[in-house]
Amino acid sequence: MTDWQESIEFESIGPLRRFFKLAVFHPFANYLPAPIMRWLLKVTESELAAANWKDPGGWRSMVISYEGKPTQIADKILVGTGSVPTALRNRKKLGSALIAHLIEQVPADNAHVLCLGAGPGLIIIDALKSTDHPAHATLVDISDEAFEYGQSKAAEHGVSDRVKYIRGDVRDIQTILDEPPQVVKMIGICE
Ligand SMILES: C[S@@+](CC[C@H](N)C(=O)[O-])C[C@H]1O[C@@H](n2cnc3c(N)ncnc32)[C@H](O)[C@@H]1O
Repeated sequence: MTDWQESIEFESIGPLRRFFKLAVFHPFANYLPAPIMRWLLKVTESELAAANWKDPGGWRSMVISYEGKPTQIADKILVGTGSVPTALRNRKKLGSALIAHLIEQVPADNAHVLCLGAGPGLIIIDALKSTDHPAHATLVDISDEAFEYGQSKAAEHGVSDRVKYIRGDVRDIQTILDEPPQVVKMIGICE
């Protein structure tokens, strides 16, 4: 591991949480018939399930996992204990540290990062604030639903003048961009 990787504090699953997952969570999640599980998530008003049903693989469910502080009981279990939400939070840490590291390798005065399928752009916001190297980003998403939330987060972290949100289809990227990027981020859209 190199220095930039070693400094990342990944979330790990402790022995108690691991035991709870194996003894309770996994049998429950794997053997409970899907319609009952769906009903349970509905009656417990799971925000994570509702976001996934509305927009499978969309930005909102990722933000719920990233923030890790849901209010509903079902979400507390899913977001706190689930392997996927934990992995998403760790991927966000790894992604932002890697992008910050890549920005630092760019010989240009003001590195340009292009984020495809950016959602609110939380990974690039973390990357911009964690490096002293001057950089700015263009964030492209087919939906502008996440932009207001992203802009508020960028302002909160003092990078709002360094992010530009554009509504567009990544397949038309050649017609969208007005300056070539040195770093391209595709986390969350490739899969
Ligand atoms: C799973 S979210 C990922 C958000 C963010 N990159 C992250 O990792 O947190 C996928 C995003 O890709 C966007 N998207 C899907 N197809 C797209 C397309 N053809 N062009 C631009 N954005 C697209 C969706 O609107 C959504 O915001």
